[in-house]
Amino acid sequence: MKRATLLENGLVVDGTGAPALAGDVLLLGERIAAVGPGLRGRLPDGLSLADVDVHDCNGLAITPGFIDVHTHDDAIVLNAPGMFPKLSQGVTTVVTGNCGLSVAPYVVQEPLPPLTLLGNSFNYPSVAAYSDAVRDAQPAVNVAPLIGHTTLRFACMDDLTRAASADELGAMCMLLEQCMVDGALGLSSGLFYAEAMAAPAAEVTQLARVVARHGGVYATHMRSEMAAILQAMHEASDTAFAAGVPLIISHHKCAGPTNWGRTRETLPLIESLALRQDIAMDVYPYVAGSTVLREDLVDEVIDVMVSWSAPHPEMTGRMLASIAAEWGTTQREACLRLKPGGACYFQMREDDVQRVISHPLSMIGSDGLPHDKHPHPRLWGAFPRVLARYWREQGLFSMEQAVYKMTGLSARNFRLRERGQLQPGWLADITVFDPVRIRDAATYEQPLAQSEGVAMVFVNGTLSFDKGRATPHRAGRLLRRELGSDSNSASGRTPRPSPST
Ligand code: ZN
Ligand code: CU
Repeated sequence: MKRATLLENGLVVDGTGAPALAGDVLLLGERIAAVGPGLRGRLPDGLSLADVDVHDCNGLAITPGFIDVHTHDDAIVLNAPGMFPKLSQGVTTVVTGNCGLSVAPYVVQEPLPPLTLLGNSFNYPSVAAYSDAVRDAQPAVNVAPLIGHTTLRFACMDDLTRAASADELGAMCMLLEQCMVDGALGLSSGLFYAEAMAAPAAEVTQLARVVARHGGVYATHMRSEMAAILQAMHEASDTAFAAGVPLIISHHKCAGPTNWGRTRETLPLIESLALRQDIAMDVYPYVAGSTVLREDLVDEVIDVMVSWSAPHPEMTGRMLASIAAEWGTTQREACLRLKPGGACYFQMREDDVQRVISHPLSMIGSDGLPHDKHPHPRLWGAFPRVLARYWREQGLFSMEQAVYKMTGLSARNFRLRERGQLQPGWLADITVFDPVRIRDAATYEQPLAQSEGVAMVFVNGTLSFDKGRATPHRAGRLLRRELGSDSNSASGRTPRPSPST
């Protein structure tokens, strides 16, 4: 490998939402050295063309590496560090620990649901121990961890059907405090899940205050995304406001046929809340959600596809209605027999997805479930699908805006310093793709299909994906939230002018 890399004659999309420009990007070591036209004619002092790997990017977009802000990749980055489903989409950073579930800080041999969404590697009593494991595994993508409220409950409580006692909450706050000192991005909650549902808002607010003292963020899978969604949004925003932390609403959706169309109510509410506090949301580009099998999510109306089942692995990939017909039962009864397991729930409507995805406060997160046998296609296809379907086919936004929702906006909302934009001096996480060809190939029927049209991916300046394959070089790191970073901090909805270096 040479000292420097020149990506030449591409369409430079810088991740701020600004219009694309024809030009080049020069990488030197792990950083971006220069962005602009004609760079080979003005290489930095001491660098000659013989030191430079040159790639012709004619017809290709050069963008910041995509940031997957909503993942459950905590354990998979350690156990399958190639991270091919993500790398092959152009993703260079995954935010882990979403929906209240993180592997750290908790040690247990046989985790219970919903922790099982993360597999069974619960061996990390602290973020420090987790970051050592990330360093040893050397994943292909960067890892930025949130700490899960549900995980803290498992670590500090023996009965999750009630609120935490004062002592238990004190213990959770101390654990979280140490996680923040060790560099965690913030707190996530999954109040929708039974193991956290008994937690009153006050419990979460207390924890969010710890995060606030360290400049972190609060992301939440809200208590309801169905009939009670507006109350749940008020709870989430009041919690964040009282604690003084920025809020991220996870995978915003209006779930269930009786709620379809209600993004016409939820989005204006988010806009009005944004007048008083820092608020953002993530979204994945599909009408089906996916989580563990739960009979309360089976309404006999929406389609449900089984993504795994412990007692009935032979039913993986099949529709619940057809299984129920075969067994001569209701779908709910079939669900009970298939548990523990997972499913895709076709619980959203396309117009709601379109409204959320085109909203200026939304960024892209896959919410992919890497441990499912027959996973939701979002695991392998979310990012290319936003470009192919919502930019190129439907024209809901420009390519620059689509990229901004995957890079600059995401880095700003999650306090990821010196990433998410193509700026001289910033870290060289870079994706090069063909704007005409990029598309997702994963479907509900064939979910393990590699996306097309991603040409190259650089992680911390290292070419990690090239010509449809991973290279032998994995260069991801654990990203710590950095204190006092004002160069890329959250502020409103328009990009700040970038520092010139
Ligand atoms: Zn969730
Ligand atoms: Cu999630």
